[in-house]
Amino acid sequence: MADQSPATSYLRIMVFGAGTMGHGIALLAGKSGHMVFLVDVDSEALHRAVKLIRSHLDWFQEEKEISEPLEAVLSRIKPVQNFEDVIGSCDLIIEAITEDQILKSELFKQIAPLKSEPSIVVSNTSYLDVFALAPEKMLSRFAIAHFFVPPYLVPLVEVVGNDQTDTDVIPWLMEVLRRMGQQPIYLKRFIPGFIVNRLQRAMGREMFHLLEEGIASPEDIDAAVKASFAIRVPVVGIAQKLDLTGLDLVLKILKNPSIDLATEDRIPRILQERVDAGDYGVKTGKGLYDYGNRPMEEITRKLNRKFLAVRRFMEKGISGGSK
Ligand SMILES: NC(=O)c1ccc[n+]([C@@H]2O[C@H](COP(=O)([O-])OP(=O)(O)OC[C@H]3O[C@@H](n4cnc5c(N)ncnc54)[C@H](O)[C@@H]3O)[C@@H](O)[C@H]2O)c1
Repeated sequence: MADQSPATSYLRIMVFGAGTMGHGIALLAGKSGHMVFLVDVDSEALHRAVKLIRSHLDWFQEEKEISEPLEAVLSRIKPVQNFEDVIGSCDLIIEAITEDQILKSELFKQIAPLKSEPSIVVSNTSYLDVFALAPEKMLSRFAIAHFFVPPYLVPLVEVVGNDQTDTDVIPWLMEVLRRMGQQPIYLKRFIPGFIVNRLQRAMGREMFHLLEEGIASPEDIDAAVKASFAIRVPVVGIAQKLDLTGLDLVLKILKNPSIDLATEDRIPRILQERVDAGDYGVKTGKGLYDYGNRPMEEITRKLNRKFLAVRRFMEKGISGGSK
């Protein structure tokens, strides 16, 4: 087997899917000095991605988050539609295409014979057991690296291997991610949704329940969250928060009559209605909130400013361990 490029060197990275996540991962990797090939079956998506990357880079420069000229970073991020000629020279292949079993499975079948032997493939799937979708011969060099939107500002990456992942793959991947400024967390085995999406999904379910019951508006629910656990979560997370409450009280509350939380066996009516109306959120200018049909670029820039402010605060504002 040929050597894997060391995690400390600049790599050649191919990112499949130039949508919400793919363009952000490409930007993160390019900004970190790697050569990136961004692939999408939809040329319009690829075009949009390059425009967004340029706009984010422009903003990073304004914020003094990059010292290199914008064009130098951009020259390392190459949009490609015919990936077959380049994939064999890539060290890392990141799959961030549509969350669809058939599409992902077909792509893995295409990738397997073309990739070089030691190169590593990771999937950014949110829920799917992609290990069951990949050809057997790819499994030893295959893992999950689950990023969060926007990946160039949110540091967590959940990393999971499969039963056959070679022992060098996870440490190498974790080091590559750390060098991009990310905070990888290793999960001992695959579970759909990993840690964060499972928690977010439980909360989302109850949020739709509250909306459907007419208890509060989306804006008021968010205002409640921001004025309460948003302040505590960065300090105590959600496990240590129970120590703060007192486990005796936590137990008493759970023994009291059920509060009838939402269950998962139905699709929230409000969600279905919004999607049917084509209101997908930031990418269409309207979702649970109304953004006045402002372009995605403008909405994203405004949100990114706030994410960066929080990230900077957390990097320097909270220190001293968790106890
Ligand atoms: N959106 C999020 O917040 C988020 C967060 C973490 C993980 N994810 C996961 O990341 C993946 C991508 O999600 P997204 O939100 O970026 O989706 P998206 O719909 O914004 O983009 C997906 C892109 O993949 C392209 N595509 C489809 N088949 C392809 C193929 N065979 N080759 C190349 N490109 C192809 C589509 O044309 C589209 O541009 C999904 O698995 C999703 O679950 C999403």
